Amino acid sequence: MPAVQQPVHKSGDIAKALLAHYDRHARVLPWRKPPGKGFANPYHVWLSEIMLQQTTVAAVGSYFHKFTQIWPDFAALAAADDADVMAAWAGLGYYARARNLLKCARVVVAEHDGRLPETEAELLKLPGIGPYTAAAIAAIAFGKRAVVVDANVERVVSRLFAISTPLPQSKPLIREATESITPDNRAGDFAQAMMDLGAGICSVRAPSCLVCPVAFACDALRVGNPEVYPAKMPKAPKPQRAGRIYWIERDDHVWLVRRHDNGLLAGMRALPDDRWTARLDGHATPPAPAEWRKLPVQVSHVFTHFSLLLDIAVTSWPAGTSDPGEGEWWPLKSLDKAGLPTVFRKAAEAVINAGEKV
Ligand code: ADE
Repeated sequence: MPAVQQPVHKSGDIAKALLAHYDRHARVLPWRKPPGKGFANPYHVWLSEIMLQQTTVAAVGSYFHKFTQIWPDFAALAAADDADVMAAWAGLGYYARARNLLKCARVVVAEHDGRLPETEAELLKLPGIGPYTAAAIAAIAFGKRAVVVDANVERVVSRLFAISTPLPQSKPLIREATESITPDNRAGDFAQAMMDLGAGICSVRAPSCLVCPVAFACDALRVGNPEVYPAKMPKAPKPQRAGRIYWIERDDHVWLVRRHDNGLLAGMRALPDDRWTARLDGHATPPAPAEWRKLPVQVSHVFTHFSLLLDIAVTSWPAGTSDPGEGEWWPLKSLDKAGLPTVFRKAAEAVINAGEKV
């Protein structure tokens, strides 16, 4: 039995019903224009789409606000200091996105007169823009007909068409099915209506099919089991790594380093560590000889490809001692301004909450 069973003549009905629902119930989000009010600012669409990769709408809101306040357009962002942008991104994760964001802004200013190109093919050539993002920007910012498939759309479409092939093998089928229901007009609103449907009514565990505007066309609902879609291949468990971070305190300052330009959290400000990676545990070698004391707490953090459990070793140095290498003494009272990635912020909080003078 073919996995995509929906007859093509249904496609117009789905888009029509979904867009009518979107006109009344679209989520109000800071990077959007309300339905029927023209296209949103392309800089806002681009910035939000990069931030929303692997990240929830709720987490993105304050970052979007901060970035648009400090850097209101491509020209301002292109002229920004790399370190300022990395620090402003701290906490949002997947830091390659921030590096590509800057690269992309600079290419847009240098090669495109400060304006995004409008076609998927041209957008795809820019740093940090893959097929999903190119399609989303082309549709939402420029009104092009583009087939936009994110995780929410994957779920909605696998249910509408009862696609039983598991992800990721089903991706081409899902794309083909999405293409068959994407309208020629309002493709951007259609994409965002699908995302809203996936984020609300067509939820992962308990879809609200009674109020779904496209329930009439849903093959999974007809059989009575929408929650089993999308089918997924079982995931390999994440490896668990162990490591240590080092807290060196001197005169109400803590020693911070800058991570290497390559690899995990590249270029970010950080606490010194014992060189744990996604593949290897740390080797418990401190950054400097000192009287180290292990705190009775640990910090855990989950990255995309591994989980990490960190010990924390602390030492206190008298004022005037020499520096432990390359890095900087950062005032404890403004540690929240250092732009530490979440794993190091958690570790810093654990030290501070341990409450004792180190
Ligand atoms: N996720 C990614 N892009 C989005 C958008 N434009 N609206 C809502 N959720 C999204």
